Amino acid sequence: MLNIKNLIKKFHEKIIINDISLTVQQGEILVLLGGSGVGKSTILRILSNLEEADSGKIELDEEILNFKKVGMVFQDFNLFSNLTVLQNLVYPLIYVLSIDEKKAEEIAQQMLIRFDIEHKMQNYPSSLSGGQKQRVAIARALCMNPKVICMDEPTSALDPMLTADVANIIQDLAKQGIIVLVATHDISLVDNLNSTICLMKDGKIIEKATSIQLKNEPELFVQTLNFMRGKKN
Ligand SMILES: Nc1ncnc2c1ncn2[C@@H]1O[C@H](COP(=O)(O)OP(=O)(O)OP(=O)(O)O)[C@@H](O)[C@H]1O
Ligand SMILES: [Mg+2]
Repeated sequence: MLNIKNLIKKFHEKIIINDISLTVQQGEILVLLGGSGVGKSTILRILSNLEEADSGKIELDEEILNFKKVGMVFQDFNLFSNLTVLQNLVYPLIYVLSIDEKKAEEIAQQMLIRFDIEHKMQNYPSSLSGGQKQRVAIARALCMNPKVICMDEPTSALDPMLTADVANIIQDLAKQGIIVLVATHDISLVDNLNSTICLMKDGKIIEKATSIQLKNEPELFVQTLNFMRGKKN
């Protein structure tokens, strides 16, 4: 279980994350939903150690979170453009996890096969489509054997036709027991996921509902439904 307690983050004295507490169970998908600037990416960046919180506590399975357990898939994928697809996966295994080269290549190849992208192994990222780059980015994150995966706007750089594929991948990660956090304002992605949705505003979570609750008790989650409707229209 991921347990975020009383998280506060300020930029230039302005409070951006305003005392957020959250728990996410193994295998659960948590969606951070909300307009631009509400703090969605900041939460993911704190979880992956790209930003430091001003205060608060983050625990994974009742221990202080080890950031090596968190994988991040960025909006623009952040692949190393000067490395081949295979090297993009292999180098972090060698240099971050100290795995020997042969074993690292084995792990990387298996992961590329799983995401059906092994035929591009020797190519450079610039020659891949957006959907292919994203599969490489997800494969690279998974190679590190994370317990938590953070995905920032996973569909924003992709053709909308790929939204259901991305939703399936996310759903599969959760099925494997990974904790998945997704920051998005893409309602069609949210519609395709069985998740817990946290509606954010001004650095706070103002409503929290599972996909099932939204469907069965819509009257209890008016702000979330309004936000979703507003985005659709
Ligand atoms: N490194 C930084 N320095 C200063 N301000 C920052 C920094 N990072 C984020 N912010 C500010 O914090 C607020 C929240 O930003 P964040 O990127 O978390 O929003 P978001 O919800 O992900 O928005 P979007 O939907 O546009 O991606 C914004 O006002 C942003 O300008
Ligand atoms: Mg963002």
